[in-house]
Amino acid sequence: MFIHWDDKLLLGNALIDQQHRMLLLLRRRLDIAIKTEQSTDTIRSITIELRKFTEFHFFSEENLMREIGYPELDQHSNIHTDLLMQLNQMIARFHRQEYSPADTLFFLYQWLLGHVVEEDFKIGKFARHSLNQPIGENYYELFFKAHYPQHGYE
Ligand SMILES: [Fe+2]
Ligand SMILES: [Fe+2]
Repeated sequence: MFIHWDDKLLLGNALIDQQHRMLLLLRRRLDIAIKTEQSTDTIRSITIELRKFTEFHFFSEENLMREIGYPELDQHSNIHTDLLMQLNQMIARFHRQEYSPADTLFFLYQWLLGHVVEEDFKIGKFARHSLNQPIGENYYELFFKAHYPQHGYE
């Protein structure tokens, strides 16, 4: 199942929104690699790419929470630690062929979108009213307004 980006997933933070898009793209790369029966090495490399980018993304999100004084930083960071563990286990099981590609892709879909909608949205909501704004936010706003007006950054 291909997942297309939906603007309903926008949090309002340009950096995090771009990263969420990127995570969906990486999941799609894995989907296509599986469907086009790429080699085990190729598929393994994409799962590593996805895991590394997820780690990177969680780090960015934690920086954002710190910058805006998000009150549930610790809880959210613990959820990230948990999600990374789940992702690692899922990928390991997938490579040991204990999980089918379809189950793995469905897991990634639920795992990713579920967290964005249930937890990350709360950060976006808080950021809109916080006196502490993320570092560089104005810069990103200007950049995305100029380059992606069609994606609701105007
Ligand atoms: Fe996120
Ligand atoms: Fe998150």
